[in-house]
Amino acid sequence: MKKDEIKEESNEIERKKGEVWKYFFERPKKNYNKYMYEMVEYPEYLIYDNEEVKKNKGKWNEFFGNNNGIYLEIGCGSGNFTVGNAEKFKDRNYIALELRFKRLVLGARKSEKRNLKNILFIRKRGETILDFIGKDEISGIYINFPDPWEGEERKRIITKELFEKLDIILKNGGKLYFKTDHQKYYEDVLELVSELDGYEMCYRTDDLHNTEKAAENIKTEFEQMFLSKHNMNIKYVEIIKK
Ligand SMILES: C[S@@+](CC[C@H](N)C(=O)[O-])C[C@H]1O[C@@H](n2cnc3c(N)ncnc32)[C@H](O)[C@@H]1O
Repeated sequence: MKKDEIKEESNEIERKKGEVWKYFFERPKKNYNKYMYEMVEYPEYLIYDNEEVKKNKGKWNEFFGNNNGIYLEIGCGSGNFTVGNAEKFKDRNYIALELRFKRLVLGARKSEKRNLKNILFIRKRGETILDFIGKDEISGIYINFPDPWEGEERKRIITKELFEKLDIILKNGGKLYFKTDHQKYYEDVLELVSELDGYEMCYRTDDLHNTEKAAENIKTEFEQMFLSKHNMNIKYVEIIKK
């Protein structure tokens, strides 16, 4: 890239930084989280603009420039799991949803460092997937260590309503993969799935790290913490769409 092009690009990034707050707040504030500005620096890896996200509904394969399967993670944290998968499975595409600026930036940074071409972070709530994902666009979906919302279980991400959305976006034969440290959330998901016609639990364990699946398992940040600090058993479920 020529010097004047580099200058132009950095001017454009500075311009975007000046107005990025508008995507998240009604009125300007005195201070912002520094990672809010940093999100602008990874246009290839991170989308925070709702309109841009929506434009790609039904066209994510065009976005990635191939016909490979698209896998979605909801609540990806700092991205270790999805980055690890994207590195391992170059013939798949990964979309990771997260809300926190810092975690999104850390995921994008890792992806850029590894020069990955098959990964994208989006700042969207998992509940809004129908706004920006089209029919049968998703081959598999991962939800790792979601907040259990004890006492406020109705706020959980894995609900009957989520499965109604998966009726639309998940291909038949596609799976939802769920890991948790939380016994009650694990049991509640098993019970919920047993009541659904279109889905079947096809694998379950309450101690993932003592199964044959442990070798291929990619650990998330929370999983690392639960294992090393608290020596907890990780519960794991695979649910197939019939
Ligand atoms: C307990 S952390 C687990 C992070 C990561 N999956 C891991 O295992 O290390 C839950 C994450 O989900 C994100 N989150 C919570 N509610 C969400 C939602 N409705 N949609 C997308 N992400 C959400 C949080 O910001 C947080 O980073």
